[in-house]
Amino acid sequence: MENLTQKILKEHLIKGELKAGSPIEIRMDQTLTQDATGTMAYMQLEAMGVDQVKTDLSVSYVDHNTLQNGFMNADDHAYLQSVAAKHGIYFSKPGNGICHQVHLERFATPGKTLIGSDSHTPTSSAMGMIAIGAGGLDVAKAMAGIPYRLTMPEVLEVRLTGQLQHGVSAKDIILELLRRLTVKGGVGKVFEYTGEGVKTLSVYQRATITNMGAELGATTSIFPSDEITKEFLTRQNRVKDWQPLAADPGASYDGLVEIDLSQLSPLAACPNSPDAVKPISALSQIKVDQVAIGSCTNSGYEDMMKVANVLKGKTINPNVSLVISPGSRQVLEKLIETGALSVFIKAGARILECACGPCIGMGQSPKSDGISLRTFNRNFYGRSGTLSAGIYLVSPETAAVSALTGYISDPTQLDYEDTFTAEPIFIDDSMILPPSDHPEDVEIIRGPNIKPLPQNTKMTENIDKKVVIKLPDNITTDHIAPAGAKVLPYRSNIEKLSTFVFMNNKEHFDQICKANNGGIIVAGENYGQGSSREHAALAPMYLGIKAVLAKSFARIHHANLINFGILPLEFVDKADYDAIDEMDELEVVNVPGLYEQPIIEVKDLTKNKSFKATTQLTKEDLDILMDGGALNYIRNHQ
Ligand code: F3S
Repeated sequence: MENLTQKILKEHLIKGELKAGSPIEIRMDQTLTQDATGTMAYMQLEAMGVDQVKTDLSVSYVDHNTLQNGFMNADDHAYLQSVAAKHGIYFSKPGNGICHQVHLERFATPGKTLIGSDSHTPTSSAMGMIAIGAGGLDVAKAMAGIPYRLTMPEVLEVRLTGQLQHGVSAKDIILELLRRLTVKGGVGKVFEYTGEGVKTLSVYQRATITNMGAELGATTSIFPSDEITKEFLTRQNRVKDWQPLAADPGASYDGLVEIDLSQLSPLAACPNSPDAVKPISALSQIKVDQVAIGSCTNSGYEDMMKVANVLKGKTINPNVSLVISPGSRQVLEKLIETGALSVFIKAGARILECACGPCIGMGQSPKSDGISLRTFNRNFYGRSGTLSAGIYLVSPETAAVSALTGYISDPTQLDYEDTFTAEPIFIDDSMILPPSDHPEDVEIIRGPNIKPLPQNTKMTENIDKKVVIKLPDNITTDHIAPAGAKVLPYRSNIEKLSTFVFMNNKEHFDQICKANNGGIIVAGENYGQGSSREHAALAPMYLGIKAVLAKSFARIHHANLINFGILPLEFVDKADYDAIDEMDELEVVNVPGLYEQPIIEVKDLTKNKSFKATTQLTKEDLDILMDGGALNYIRNHQ
């Protein structure tokens, strides 16, 4: 009696046992990258000397940094296009859409595995596949044919019953889970959706849920592949990719969460965390300055059509700025065909490119102290580009109704059509460029923004460094390596990018590291939550960070630290965190001793005391760390 997660993993298992907590290695059929993480991943692929990718399908998307107000982004796009053509990778041009939306429409396939250098890669798991977000180096390794190593997660059953009521959406299902379980509740887990309620949800709705499973910290989330999946694939002219897939009746799970869909009401995640969830009814006095609809969470055809139904024949509140970014060119074309685009424009919306846009701080920052309602998945401090803004995460229906009233408003109270024009078929892959038939003739274009990869040195026996920063709980990768229009253009230029590290937490962090010849970071719980961006490990590596001592880590960031040769250590007694101050000199004693046992001594030389730390590392993780990171390790073992 197997659950669906076990079934797919069994088909792809290279090494290990499918027992929660055991190290396993799995074969990855597909990879995806986006431009913010992709340039680095492809430089790493080149450094590994891989000629043609070994996967069934690899796709390089450009969706994050599509602005071209300087040569840097254009340089990156040219590099990405040429490197894809040369190495057997499909290239989705800027403007074609957000990676997860396009991947869901054109490539996601039931029963397959996908690894992507973006934390919301699990969006494609709505199709009944195992899709996992990881650092770029892990994706580069998968393209090189190296199996993906992970700890076998626990598989939690999320049993859905009932049916969503008017005005309540899939976004409210995942917000309800975040309310119950918090941003740490999914760490080391897969959320497998079952029950009669599943049959009431479209693939787009399922994708909203699997997308934001990332906010729970989950390894991935998965829906069965059923008649609804078949219908979706038929409309995409891909019915040949379909197969029915579900858990065996009576399959066992490591836990159960039950949600009655008919009992849910509209919810919002309040500033500054996706799990600060409250009912919309409790927020109705809050005035709204901006509404942003789109992102990989809520930019599919159905979401856009629901927004059109709400806005039809109406105009938005004069004090609200409404921006809409359809998730893909396919969606945009459908909005034109159905007349929904005209509804948006008449209502007073501003239409943005099919890209991540405001979700990653690329334009549309709210005004100072402004309130912005967004259908996105993250509302971390500073991510919008305005530190004093308050960002609320809501469903498309809540966002649209609130744009009309100017206040956070409950869509269940408004009478609008729940149905919309049947989805017309529009398939046009002309902005997805296949790899070259003559890769030997392709020259890789390296403009001045494409700088060589920084190298790390081998790990020393003892790490003797100062604490260059001490941080609280739930530090995100946005805190460590911020995004936004000022920073993202330098994702292939680590020297420059490193000057922005912790820019909202500590001024001149890079100078402090340089003055102290690197250092150690001390942090609270769930360090490195959020995006998969490996720059949050790579830039600190460049600044000489040798260890991070935290109460706990987020999964992808933990793996990224190892990949870049930074030792992740956890306090054995969390109370020891309190005794450390910034600029204390710490000595991590006998790092190679971790091969023998997972506990290590850390001396606080400034305070003249010592405490214990621990790690959850395999032998191979330690080999990688001792070599100074995965690239050195791969080179040494080739
Ligand atoms: Fe893009 Fe935001 Fe999703 S940056 S991939 S739309 S989380």
